[in-house]
Amino acid sequence: MLDWSETKPARAQIHPAFAPASTDATADATGLGAIARGAARVSVDEKRMINARADVNQLLPLKYKWAWEKYLAGCNNHWMPTEVSMQADIALWKSRDGLTEDERRMLKRNLGFFAASESLVANNIVLAIYRHLTNPECRQYLLRQAFEEAVHTHTFQYIVESLGLDEGELFNMYREVPSITDKAAWALKHTQSLDDPAFATGTPEADQQFLRDLVAFYVVFEGMWFYTGFAQILSLGRRNKMVGIAEQYQYILRDESLHLNFGIDVINQIKAENPDLWTPAFQDEVRGMLKDAAELEAAYSRDTMPRGLLGLNAGLCEQYMHVIANRRCAQLGLAPVFAEAENPFPWMSESIDLKKEKNFFETRVIEYQNGGALAWD
Ligand SMILES: [Fe+2]
Ligand SMILES: [Fe+2]
Repeated sequence: MLDWSETKPARAQIHPAFAPASTDATADATGLGAIARGAARVSVDEKRMINARADVNQLLPLKYKWAWEKYLAGCNNHWMPTEVSMQADIALWKSRDGLTEDERRMLKRNLGFFAASESLVANNIVLAIYRHLTNPECRQYLLRQAFEEAVHTHTFQYIVESLGLDEGELFNMYREVPSITDKAAWALKHTQSLDDPAFATGTPEADQQFLRDLVAFYVVFEGMWFYTGFAQILSLGRRNKMVGIAEQYQYILRDESLHLNFGIDVINQIKAENPDLWTPAFQDEVRGMLKDAAELEAAYSRDTMPRGLLGLNAGLCEQYMHVIANRRCAQLGLAPVFAEAENPFPWMSESIDLKKEKNFFETRVIEYQNGGALAWD
């Protein structure tokens, strides 16, 4: 029988980020604290990216229109992996000489990297970022992004099922293949520090820790590491191989380019509101993170492509990472970390992550709305 007299946990046991401030009930970071009855209405000026005093349950009035526009763009980009036919991929995968051994190795490791990474990114949004980003329009975007990450994870389930791949092998690669484990572990340490129940923003150290997590997941994971993976699979697609997966990756790339740009905007807005956080030492640290990330990606490229294939090789991928890392530095207002290099994959287009209305194949992709077809011509 239920004991209705059971007392609730004392407020002091609740995570600090979830407890309403003792002096001002409107400064509740989660939106789940006590209702501030009769409090003054929210004004745009009170809204902040982090450590806001304004009620986070009130979307309007909007302050950050870029966040709302990205939410709308994400909704317009809706797609599902099951809308993409896998028949050609299944036939090619099952035919004895449809793909070389090198292509199979690259494809499986690529799928293995993405399969777990989509979950890591989703968990970081939901369990680390969301609670500390104290702005409702940004949270609206995060909710949309979280669903998109679920669609991406669904994509890998659909690919595994369609091709009859070993699901245990694929989904365990992030624990069993060192070049993939190293990348996941590098990013995870940043989200783990936010996952500490005692963690709360509001001090320079904690706010910088939050920025590190944003850099690790938005700029490095989604903005750098995914790009070698996209180049690998889109190279296959350009040669008319695994065209279903290539089409799905094209949709994922479109989503990820929006995620990256949202993350960059979030970081730059936090910088603008909290210039004291963006010290020269911290800028050097962020540049160091991007440099480390490019080196981890070079190791992954060597591991997935020990010999050249499809016009790609580890050296070119490393050069591509240098170009991408420098571009991310520019987006964050940082000095480049690598010597200027030519983009070895011009077909990946300079504009895919800068002008989201453009696609490197052509513009028909962005006309896709809820169930339309995607063409390769
Ligand atoms: Fe994703
Ligand atoms: Fe993403």
